[in-house]
Amino acid sequence: MSDEMSRRDFMKRAAITTAGASLSMAGFSTTRVLGANDRIRLGVIGTGRQGIDNMQNFMKHGVEVAAVCDVFEPNLQKGLQAAGGKAQTFKDFRQLLDQKDIDVVLNATPDHWHALPTVMACQAGKDAYTEKPISVAVEEGKKMVEAARKYKRVVQVGLWQRSNAHFQKAVQLVQDGLLGKVTYVRTWNYSNVYPAGIGNPPDGEPPAGLDWDFWLGPAPKVPYNWNRFGVGDRWSTFRYFYDYANGWPGDWAVHLMDIVEWAMKVEGPNTITAQGSKFYLQDNSDIPDTLQITWEYPHFVATYENRLGNGNSLFGHGYGIVFHGSEGTMFLDRSGFQVYPEPLSEVDYRELHRQAGREEREMRGKTPEMKMSQIDDGLLLHVGDLLECMRTRQTPRADIEYGYQSSSTCLLGNVALRSKERLEWDAASQKLTKGSPAAQKLLGREYRAPWKLVV
Ligand SMILES: NC(=O)c1ccc[n+]([C@@H]2O[C@H](COP(=O)([O-])OP(=O)(O)OC[C@H]3O[C@@H](n4cnc5c(N)ncnc54)[C@H](O)[C@@H]3O)[C@@H](O)[C@H]2O)c1
Repeated sequence: MSDEMSRRDFMKRAAITTAGASLSMAGFSTTRVLGANDRIRLGVIGTGRQGIDNMQNFMKHGVEVAAVCDVFEPNLQKGLQAAGGKAQTFKDFRQLLDQKDIDVVLNATPDHWHALPTVMACQAGKDAYTEKPISVAVEEGKKMVEAARKYKRVVQVGLWQRSNAHFQKAVQLVQDGLLGKVTYVRTWNYSNVYPAGIGNPPDGEPPAGLDWDFWLGPAPKVPYNWNRFGVGDRWSTFRYFYDYANGWPGDWAVHLMDIVEWAMKVEGPNTITAQGSKFYLQDNSDIPDTLQITWEYPHFVATYENRLGNGNSLFGHGYGIVFHGSEGTMFLDRSGFQVYPEPLSEVDYRELHRQAGREEREMRGKTPEMKMSQIDDGLLLHVGDLLECMRTRQTPRADIEYGYQSSSTCLLGNVALRSKERLEWDAASQKLTKGSPAAQKLLGREYRAPWKLVV
């Protein structure tokens, strides 16, 4: 557990935690108390692209894959094979959760299936690793935090950048004031998929081995469409439909804004605005091809920009984070970070000399050029952090509450976009303080029967 985490007062967040169930308290109940040498047994729900990748990282730590589960038989078989061929197989995750000897559940289903199996895993006395964004709607995320606290489970979110040494170092430098006063942070994803996007396949029959009704689960019942399911030789395209996900804000922006909020020590924005539209893409996705979200925090402004029709990059990277401070600028992404000192003009220097004492003058303009490249495997370390926390019952690096925070920040961006409103948010109570009933409704999500999210 990092110093930053241990300093954090979870009890302050009474609105989303269950009284008396702070993770920092001792006295956890577990299905099995794990000794240092006990082999941990994993159940995987959703053996698609990320599920298998995550699972292999658990296996590198010596974890035994006891069961795999998927509603798409070809992916279930891929998962079984990747697990070494001996795991139990299930189509229904509730049967996997019934297995008493499973200690931890990995949930790598599409976003609309993150909340329910994670809450039910907590209720079944299992720890969990659940993918980001933690939910499709803000209100679901609150229930996930509540379940982790109520059932005293360790729940790690797949925000694995938190486990990379260079992200940790960059965050520390920002917090230590290397960049001076940071007042503006920019995040982005740029690409060019003009004009066809993900295409426009017709509705049709689901492929062999897919239980389409189960895949839809709590989402509205609609005819099968390949883009909605999305599994193929690419990242699955369910991401681009609001019934199952939140487009780029729910996918990439969560990774980026997680680092921003961590570095800037904030728990959520005060105001949220967003502009964007589908100007030219001719595919059947729901999402804009051009988007900008602006969040105002108590002491800075942050933006997320997403272009799908022009890949011209910033700092030579199609995605990233830039912190702009009074003393310097930092570019940060998965490959490393670079600090660019803010040049002081001759006039500025003379003016400072006139106004300030010698000490302050010497501090100015001293931000060094700094650079650090990615040196470690964040995902592998992230899984290792969860496994260690399962044994010690400590708070993992990307605890569900942090996952909730960065997910809800980004989901609020989409609520602003879809409601076309300037929203005001109270981070302390985790409530909208300005927003119409229509915007308020977008914070929640109706579950299709028989599915219910009950903590
Ligand atoms: N942390 C990261 O860096 C990272 C990277 C990629 C993806 N992800 C996240 O991982 C999740 C999965 O993404 P993906 O690209 O691997 O998707 P995918 O479509 O390849 O895999 C999802 C799998 O879940 C299965 N599934 C759907 N509903 C199910 C249910 N009720 N029970 C069991 N299985 C079910 C699907 O059939 C599919 O095989 C997404 O939430 C995504 O945001 C995270």
